[in-house]
Amino acid sequence: MTELVDASATELADGVVAFEVNGSPVTVRRSHPHLLAALREELDITSPKDGCSPSGQCGCCTVFVDGKATVACQYDLAKVEGRSVVTLEGVADDERQRFADAFAACGGLQCGFCIPGIVMRAKAQIDKKGSALTREAMAPHLGAHLCRCTGYVKILDAIEAVAHGDTCTPSLADAVGGRGAKYEAAPLTLGDRDYIDDIRVPGMRHAALHLTDHARADIVAIDTSAAVAAPGVEAVLTADDVPGELRVGLIHKDWPVMIPVGGRTSYAGDVLAVVVADTRDHARAAAELVEVTYEVHAPNTDAREALSDTAPLSVWGTDSNVLSTSAYTRGDDVDAVLASSAHTVHETFRTQRIEHAFLEPESTVAIPSGDSASRTLHVYSGGQGVWDDRNDIAAVLDVDASRVTVELVSNGGAFGGKEDMSNQAQTALAAWKLGVPVKCTLSREESLRMHAKRHPIELEYWAGCDDDGRLTALKVRGIGDSGAYASVGMKVLERAAGHACGPYRWQALDIETIAVRTNNLVCGAFRGFGANQAQFAMEGVLDRLAAQVGISGWEIRKRNVIRPGDEWGPGQIMDDGAGGAEACLDRVKAAYDDAVASGKAVGLGLGLKNSGLGNGFREVSRAVVRFLPASDDGPGRVEVRHGWTEMGQGVHTVALQVAAQELGVDPERIDVIVDTTRELGFGQTTGSRGTLMVAGSVGSAAAAALAAGCEVGVDYEGEYVVDWTQKLGDAHVEHPTIHAVFSYAAQLVIADPSTGEIEKVVAVHDVGRAVNPTLVEGQVEGSVHMGLGYALTEEFPTDSETGFPTNTTLRSLGILRAKDVPEIEVQLVEVPQPRSPFGIKGVGEIGLVPTAPAVAAALHAVDGEWRTTLPMRRTT
Ligand code: FES
Ligand code: FES
Repeated sequence: MTELVDASATELADGVVAFEVNGSPVTVRRSHPHLLAALREELDITSPKDGCSPSGQCGCCTVFVDGKATVACQYDLAKVEGRSVVTLEGVADDERQRFADAFAACGGLQCGFCIPGIVMRAKAQIDKKGSALTREAMAPHLGAHLCRCTGYVKILDAIEAVAHGDTCTPSLADAVGGRGAKYEAAPLTLGDRDYIDDIRVPGMRHAALHLTDHARADIVAIDTSAAVAAPGVEAVLTADDVPGELRVGLIHKDWPVMIPVGGRTSYAGDVLAVVVADTRDHARAAAELVEVTYEVHAPNTDAREALSDTAPLSVWGTDSNVLSTSAYTRGDDVDAVLASSAHTVHETFRTQRIEHAFLEPESTVAIPSGDSASRTLHVYSGGQGVWDDRNDIAAVLDVDASRVTVELVSNGGAFGGKEDMSNQAQTALAAWKLGVPVKCTLSREESLRMHAKRHPIELEYWAGCDDDGRLTALKVRGIGDSGAYASVGMKVLERAAGHACGPYRWQALDIETIAVRTNNLVCGAFRGFGANQAQFAMEGVLDRLAAQVGISGWEIRKRNVIRPGDEWGPGQIMDDGAGGAEACLDRVKAAYDDAVASGKAVGLGLGLKNSGLGNGFREVSRAVVRFLPASDDGPGRVEVRHGWTEMGQGVHTVALQVAAQELGVDPERIDVIVDTTRELGFGQTTGSRGTLMVAGSVGSAAAAALAAGCEVGVDYEGEYVVDWTQKLGDAHVEHPTIHAVFSYAAQLVIADPSTGEIEKVVAVHDVGRAVNPTLVEGQVEGSVHMGLGYALTEEFPTDSETGFPTNTTLRSLGILRAKDVPEIEVQLVEVPQPRSPFGIKGVGEIGLVPTAPAVAAALHAVDGEWRTTLPMRRTT
């Protein structure tokens, strides 16, 4: 796998730096920008991950320098001369094993990208304090680290276990419902499992992108001559080099892979040129030398203004600033019902743009084979939909899709932000044109600009209820700033419309949401997918109505919660799975009453979120089970192949536990493989659909194997199909089943009544069936952490003059650090979902739907102020 790029003569002339790494003397080129680059790019030591270099804000690159935990991306290479560096590779084997066992047994990791750095930080503290180290003492030291997946709860469990010398003996679970370790937990903990940027192949070159300086500007000229002449540069590609389709996209093909001369930019992440060079540093330096002549236009940065008749078109090549309108009505005239309601509320809520902040920036490796006439391309992608990637790359290259294979590499977090392609097409183009392997890894700043965000949405609500607090009518008008390109923005606003009424019964509804094209950053998929924004507003008006009626937040929810057989939202008749909403409410009651009785400020949120696409899509998942021959070492191994993206949520572990249970084989004999060489997948791994779709298809493949005798060497294929949903707003269907599956959650936020400090969150989640309760709890804890940030501190604004983000670093996003996370108590409820494999409903999507409204209600209990705008307490 490994071939290191030779140092150029120029660099060697600049000299070398000598130091010791993991006990061995090394010399590296002095020209590396920092210690991390020398470790990763020249010495091929990859346990220190690069999440944000050179800004030193994520902690992923933590190593020891002369025994002190240090972020390597901030360590000047000149200063390392003569010192001793230790990375996780150099830690003693027994100590490595203790960390691996503890993190696996405690469920202390999800995507794993942050963990090697955290292990080094934990080792430093354990070396110093030994068994006296507590989680309270450790948490402040994690202030130098970010984890976007876990909420830190189980990370601190694992560190405490190592410090206290607890015996941890993780094992894989052999059945659905088992609390086993996560698949590949040990190599992920130790940084031994490669992410894409860890991949090296012989002859590999590096690509870097030149992004636009203006969000809306005509491209008059692109001068690449200085970049071409720069050291190490082999090629500079522009849109003129694209042989096929210029535009890609998941639903609309409107997103140019590069903007040509004569074209127009539409947002801050537009690409103008790709530079290919011998090293990453050379490529990035040369990319800055590309000279572009612009004719600059004022960008549309206000969604409401972009809707006006006089607004110019935001996006090059489109004919309207309205991306989509999602609307439906049900029942009597809403205005009339509101006029006759005993109590009404009219309120406008505003939610903010949010950055995913997955810890692994986007990276792609493309490897061509054969001469130009017969060339094929193998692309390593961390995307959430390798089938979409393959088809769009083939279209850009103007070749049949059979000549492109996209292989998924489990990524370092995504949360929806890796659904659209980022740099896959540009990397593929470079490799295709040059006939050499090419890697392109985005810097954190490029990542922040390029991928789609969570939509800011303005939601105007009119809601009513009777004297008893029974809900009557709801009218909603929503405008979402979808940024420039479509991505899945229309689906996000469709989901916001569908979920606008929350998990409640209403007599009459009139709902409309509009996705607007602007020149702000693209907005698309992000955990919750429109449901978070809508239910922040929905729960807010519910609490205001409860206050008017004079009943508690719990009571008004109990009186109106959706139950099996009720008509919900656009007319869907809810099945028995809907019992989960009331079950969550009932389960949280004791904690709610206790907190109120003890004088705490309390807020409650109740939410629902669909799993899967629904809305009339035919969803298909296939999986393959294959028995391998026995060997001298024992019985043969069993391969389970599927096509879904592992991004920390545990889809491989789900596949493994289902296969182990259904086949009755030892889970240690099972290898889970993402197979993109055959048509096993269907669309994006999104909306919690991976878990239930993989469970259904692996269960089906196992059944096929058992029925045919589990012959060695035979591919047993299974399929799971959801084809019984209908479109939102179809006037011809009286009771459309717009979603096959919903999960439900009630979250209780308990705050100090005098300071408003949040002391505890009780998260009660109905997941249908918890395939692995440890992993499910971790999903909920991570969601609550993300939800508290959404509620209180996180935002990703753009400049109204330029459309460019005003936050350009991880630190400026307002993500909560470990010491700021309150106690999180997770309680799981299992109300099985009819027609779903094993009754699974999913957990990832619902996670933070109830959090922000529960925080808003708790803060109202503190000071009597109703909140309408997120975030509610920006402090950083
Ligand atoms: S990569 Fe060094 S702190 Fe983020
Ligand atoms: S496990 Fe920490 S960022 Fe994913």
